[in-house]
Amino acid sequence: MLDNFDVCVIGGGPAGYVSALKSAINGLSVAIIEKENFGGTCLNKGCIPTKTIYSKAKYLSKLKKPEYGFKISGYSVDYNDVIDYKERVVSTLTGGVEKLLRARKVSIFNGTGRINGNNNIGFVLTITDGSGFKTDISAKNVVVSTGSSPLMIPSFNIDHKNIMTSDEILELREVPKFLIIIGAGVIGCEFANIFSEFGADIKMIELLPSILSIEDRDISKFVQKNFKSRNIDIMTSVEVESIKPLEEGGATVSLKTGEKFTADKILVSIGRKLNTGGLGLEEIGIKMDGRGKIDVDSYNKTNIKGIYACGDIVDGPMLAHKASYDGIIAADNIAGIVKEKDYSVLPWSIYTNPPIGTVGLKEGDNGLKDIDYSVGRFSYAANGMALAMEENDGFLKVLVENKSKKILGATGIGPDTPELIAEIASYMHFNGTIFDIESTIHSHPTLSEIIPEASLDSIGEAIHKVNPRAAKKKN
Ligand code: NAI
Repeated sequence: MLDNFDVCVIGGGPAGYVSALKSAINGLSVAIIEKENFGGTCLNKGCIPTKTIYSKAKYLSKLKKPEYGFKISGYSVDYNDVIDYKERVVSTLTGGVEKLLRARKVSIFNGTGRINGNNNIGFVLTITDGSGFKTDISAKNVVVSTGSSPLMIPSFNIDHKNIMTSDEILELREVPKFLIIIGAGVIGCEFANIFSEFGADIKMIELLPSILSIEDRDISKFVQKNFKSRNIDIMTSVEVESIKPLEEGGATVSLKTGEKFTADKILVSIGRKLNTGGLGLEEIGIKMDGRGKIDVDSYNKTNIKGIYACGDIVDGPMLAHKASYDGIIAADNIAGIVKEKDYSVLPWSIYTNPPIGTVGLKEGDNGLKDIDYSVGRFSYAANGMALAMEENDGFLKVLVENKSKKILGATGIGPDTPELIAEIASYMHFNGTIFDIESTIHSHPTLSEIIPEASLDSIGEAIHKVNPRAAKKKN
């Protein structure tokens, strides 16, 4: 007789562990299968370790260029200690997830999960642990949330030593002297920011004409200028022919133009692939596209009744908080609480220095094609708190529908922009207008005062703007 559960979650990242906890909160019996540590890419190899190192890099940038009135001399940096601290943060958080699961009486299975058909109760799942030992359980519902891994292409010869993915670069104990980054998307730009602060020479090689090409054009230009001012060398519209590790250490990248560059380390950050192979999904007839992306409806149900999928392996951006949201949608629908997902107010952040925050639609998006809208803009340089903090570089843009004055989206770069975007996301969630923002009292002095200013600038009514923008149609 197999142990039987209402729900079995495969994969303990932000989609899976949150879904498991929510199902337990909903009163269901839950099992979770995880082959490594809980927390997935986000806690172990993504958001949290990078932001820990990022915050040290930010501190270092202030030490190198101290604020007005300070002269700092005689500091030293031990990158090895930085990495020790990062490991402590990661283990605190991954251990915390495990504690939460145990506290909610979720049964934990360590190993690789696979769906092996059905029995008369539900789906049969086989868990194979590190030593090859197999355990079978059954579950009425299955949530697949196995995430993604760095994309590798054969001609890039990733050896995980000199030619690395984002997984290995986080384990480095020394700052490379010269680092080449292939792919100037989110991961590439976050690491360029970190390692340049820690003193590495950086060259970025990007296939498309601009870095951070899916962001707003003004943001992409701002980061490009910021990086150039820090001597980060950026090559765009270039194709890599191959990358080869060198016996004596380091690696060489050859471009289609014939140029070659040799560096101590090369980071390949050209996107991610989906971890949907080997789970028994094809065998039971789960619908997937050619890349292995699982087809789900707005309840995160697959085409097989009782099987749900969440996170990176389904449609939508690869973001930890989107994955957790997916997990909650699946858990509630399993429990009979009907909830449809809606990604229209989905914020995201990119941690360059200063950081970027975005929510909803941005200029250039297809979704704006038939909408009559205006853009309001406000600069950090006109905000008292930003000046007091001596961090006055950046701006916030808010997109407003002309007729309803509702917020369609916002994007910005500057100190704490991701936190400002969180406030705007709340207005958007509740269908707020720029007048709701105006009538919300914002504490002074705070960076949040930029929000009403940028929003009201869309109709030319920002209070602290010398050159107010007249209300404009699409620009
Ligand atoms: P990405 O899709 O953001 O960027 C990949 C970049 O590599 C693109 O600019 C692309 O044009 C370029 N590229 C592709 N093939 C190339 C080639 N052969 N040579 C040169 N350039 C090439 O992917 P990335 O940076 O790997 O990140 C993966 C995912 O992780 C993203 O979807 C992102 O949303 C997520 N992520 C989110 C973070 C956040 O929310 N702060 C942080 C890090 C990652």
